[in-house]
Parts: sequence; C-alpha cells; structure tokens
Amino acid sequence: MDREELLTAFRDTMRQVAATVYAITTAGEGERHGILATAVSSLSFDPPSLLVCINQSASVHAPLGQADRFCVNVLGTGNRDVADCFARGASGEERFKVGNWTQFQGLPVLADAQSALLCRRVLRQDFGTHSIFIGELEAAWHHGGVPLIYFDRQYIDLAASL
Ligand SMILES: Cc1cc2nc3c(=O)[nH]c(=O)nc-3n(C[C@H](O)[C@H](O)[C@H](O)COP(=O)(O)O)c2cc1C
Repeated sequence: MDREELLTAFRDTMRQVAATVYAITTAGEGERHGILATAVSSLSFDPPSLLVCINQSASVHAPLGQADRFCVNVLGTGNRDVADCFARGASGEERFKVGNWTQFQGLPVLADAQSALLCRRVLRQDFGTHSIFIGELEAAWHHGGVPLIYFDRQYIDLAASL
C-alpha cells in the first residue's frame, strides 16, 4: 500500500467510527480557550485519569501546554449549540457565548453537559501532528443524558434509536 492509499483508508475508517463529542476547555491569562474533540479516552482508574489528543495547530494547543488544568465536558444531545459554536467560525472567548458556562477553579465548566471532568495536567507527549495530554481527575460532575455522537461527518440522534 502506498502512503496515499494508506491515508485514504485511515480517513475512511475513522470517519465511520462513531464517537462521543467533547468540549475540552482551559484558561490562562484571563482568557478562556476551548476545542471540540472526539479523540478522548479514559486511561486508568487508579489514579482516575484520561487522555485527550490535540492537533498542534489548534488554537487551544499552546494554552493547554501552559495550563495546570483542563476540563473535559462530555456533550449531550442538548449541547448541539455548543458543538456548533466551537466548530464553526468562533474563536477564543467567542466560543463561550453559547452554552451554560460556569467556572470551577477558574476553568470553564459546562453546567448542563452530560458530564464534566476536571483534570490536573500531568503529562504531555508530542506525536506527529498531535499532542497527547494526560489529565488526573480532580473533580467530576455527572448529570446523565444521551451523548452527542459524531459519525460520517454528521451528528447522530442516538435517542431516536434507543
Ligand atoms: C466532531 C469533531 C471532532 C474533532 N475532534 C478533534 C480532536 O479530537 N482533536 C483535535 O485536535 N481536533 C479535533 N477536531 C478539530 C477541532 O475541533 C478544530 O476545529 C481545529 O483543531 C481548529 O481549531 P482552532 O480553530 O481552535 O485552531 C474535531 C472537529 C470536529 C468537528
């Protein structure tokens, strides 16, 4: 397989991997930052921790590298407006004009997200175009609901198929 075929097969594969959508947020120097992401995974239960994969070209990458903490907001179907705002056009502080954002330890936490997981950043590993940020859980809120799912370049209404 040449590189082009490999990349096409990789893109096609990942496009059809259904994934929960997250709003990763952080803050620094009086400004809030955020990114819409699907590359998130739980990592270990002891200590409770998770990892997020962030493109080094993303605006949140440098602030995440400098911040002590970040928050992983698990989006539900009711947070579609936040997903759209994060993904389209808006940048920096503008991303927080939509959604019920509150603060905890100075970090943006989405009050009506399905869950919010506040982490202390403990490790960063650069790999290729991305960086893996590992966070150890410091606070967590679980409200429940139906997750917002991204599949084949669109959001799927999981509630309709439950
Ligand atoms: C559904 C969805 C999932 C995404 N997942 C990730 C991800 O896991 N990691 C990442 O770095 N970018 C991801 N992106 C791209 C970022 O949200 C963002 O658009 C891009 O990095 C540009 O960010 P910037 O405008 O803040 O620089 C995703 C975009 C969408 C629409």
